[in-house]
Amino acid sequence: MNCRVGCAACCVTISISSPIPGMPNGKSAGTRCVQLTADGRCKLYGQATRPEICVRLTPSLEMCGQTDEHAFRYLAALEEATRPESLNRMRCAEIKHGSPEYRVTVALRDEILRKPLGLCFSKEQLQAESTDRHLACYRGGRLVACLVLTRESGGTMRMRQVAVAADCQRQGIGAALVSYAERLAAELGCDEMAAHARETALSFYTQLGYTAFGDRFIEIGLPHVRVRKPLAK
Ligand SMILES: CC(C)(COP(=O)(O)OP(=O)(O)OC[C@H]1O[C@@H](n2cnc3c(N)ncnc32)[C@H](O)[C@@H]1OP(=O)(O)O)[C@@H](O)C(=O)NCCC(=O)NCCS
Ligand code: SF4
Ligand code: SF4
Repeated sequence: MNCRVGCAACCVTISISSPIPGMPNGKSAGTRCVQLTADGRCKLYGQATRPEICVRLTPSLEMCGQTDEHAFRYLAALEEATRPESLNRMRCAEIKHGSPEYRVTVALRDEILRKPLGLCFSKEQLQAESTDRHLACYRGGRLVACLVLTRESGGTMRMRQVAVAADCQRQGIGAALVSYAERLAAELGCDEMAAHARETALSFYTQLGYTAFGDRFIEIGLPHVRVRKPLAK
């Protein structure tokens, strides 16, 4: 598509770090470029001094939409999502079984928990968890961890399928998501969180206040231990 001349969303909304004639330090997000005319045209259009980033920015339906308002909203959201502070921001959320977000968590679980064992999820296994609660943790918009909560009899919630992306482990993300899961389980009226911990991950759970109980057992070919923790009301 062609640029909707006069829109000027990209000449105002985005930050440009390279020099612009008249703005040697570039411009910050939301600042009107000095090369923009009153009717929203670029004074440098077609000239060699026009910044490289402006020449390269290609109009698209996704970015420009059908209206100037769409373009301003889209670019402001993009600018916000790519700020350095946003890239490090962590957010936990509950997601819906079967949703696009859920499918991304299944891919992460597959990668971290199943593929290393030469296994993968079947349609039936995924269908069987339709009444479970699915939690995800995002950092800068990227899914970095997930887990599944299954209600058991009495006041116990069981945490399953705890997985953190390989390049994000040991950064406190697993602990943050488990703490979010515990708060949700308590809100749902549960008084205990339980899990089948892989022996290799047992100290992750004990660090978080879980206690091992019962006999060691084998699940998906790996030694596991049952762990539990009372939930604060
Ligand atoms: C186990 C797992 C969920 C932990 O999540 P994480 O984000 O890496 O853990 P955190 O950074 O929140 O760790 C908190 C503490 O738990 C302990 N811990 C974390 N991972 C551990 C591991 N694999 N082994 C031993 N202790 C561990 C550490 O004491 C850690 O604190 P420290 O890094 O300051 O020493 C994650 O590493 C993972 O997905 N591993 C592969 C899959 C897996 O084993 N899942 C659990 C199935 S039961
Ligand atoms: S957002 Fe799209 S339509 Fe608006 S000025 Fe930029 S390229 Fe042109
Ligand atoms: S140089 Fe031109 S295209 Fe680039 S931001 Fe300024 S007005 Fe827009």
